[in-house]
Amino acid sequence: IKKIAVFTSGGDSPGMNAGIRSVVRTCAYLKIECVGIYRGYEGMIEGDFKPMDARSVNNIINKGGTILKSARCDEFRTKEGRKKAYEQLKKEGVDAFVVVGGNGSFAGALAFNEEYNFPVMGMPGTIDNDILGSTYTIGFDTAINTVVDAIDKIRDTASSHNRLFFVEVMGRDVGHIALNAGVGAGAEEILIPEQNLGLERLLDSLKRSKKSGKSSSIVIVAEGDRIGKNVFELKEYVEEHLPIYDVRVSVLGHMQRGGNPTCFDRVLASRMGVKAVESLLEGKSNYMVGIRDNKLILTPISEAIKAHTEIDEELLRVSDIMTT
Ligand code: F6P
Repeated sequence: IKKIAVFTSGGDSPGMNAGIRSVVRTCAYLKIECVGIYRGYEGMIEGDFKPMDARSVNNIINKGGTILKSARCDEFRTKEGRKKAYEQLKKEGVDAFVVVGGNGSFAGALAFNEEYNFPVMGMPGTIDNDILGSTYTIGFDTAINTVVDAIDKIRDTASSHNRLFFVEVMGRDVGHIALNAGVGAGAEEILIPEQNLGLERLLDSLKRSKKSGKSSSIVIVAEGDRIGKNVFELKEYVEEHLPIYDVRVSVLGHMQRGGNPTCFDRVLASRMGVKAVESLLEGKSNYMVGIRDNKLILTPISEAIKAHTEIDEELLRVSDIMTT
């Protein structure tokens, strides 16, 4: 392998730049050529490549977003799209690629490898922390810190006005952001897809909390929660069934994907980038670099995309105890 391409794909996440930097600098260190591909698979199909050397990634470790841009690409889901991508990579003389992204991006890499026997390596970059084979994904730590910071602020005003807030957080189909940030921010209730609390229990819990002397409350709702009502409907429902509360809603949205990455995410991305390049040079392919028990591990991409990581049962229990 003489030339490696790196790109970011799917929803961006803080720390992706640190990951790009790590791949580029590891290549430079090992005297391998490196190219960046803009806009993920879309740019691969269009041949939007840029040679990268150690200096082209100066001053990006601290920046959110991704300097290579990101995209979700439907054309790469087709055989024709992947053929175009292969031709562009060959034209550019690329021998292998590292993709920083989530499940969809890995599924694309796997299909590509199966068709062209092209060496691929994945690095998990998503705020959702939903990828099997890694306890943490790049961007998750920053996102939960952003959410905690936002909820701390919401709590100030909630408490001044004795209000109940429903705060919706991201996470797609999983509740990792909600649970971790909820425990960290001391939320009164946390609604996640992995555990359907039910409307009755929610009302009971809110009644109990009022009775126990709490004047304000924060309920975190994961966007993928299955309670059957979105945050605005929940507000109406509670106002109707529990008129003791003055209710407000806050949907945190894409602010959760931005911002300077935390030290944890920068270090994680730096470690994963080194491992990704070194693994390719050792002849490995079709793996995702992950972290478990603070050790870097490789999981076959075919395994990593099979399921989401399960919710941490111990943390669920802690959350139950903390909300009494
Ligand atoms: O996967 C990251 C994520 O931010 C999810 O938490 C969210 O459901 C989704 O992406 C939002 O996607 P988009 O940026 O396309 O609206």
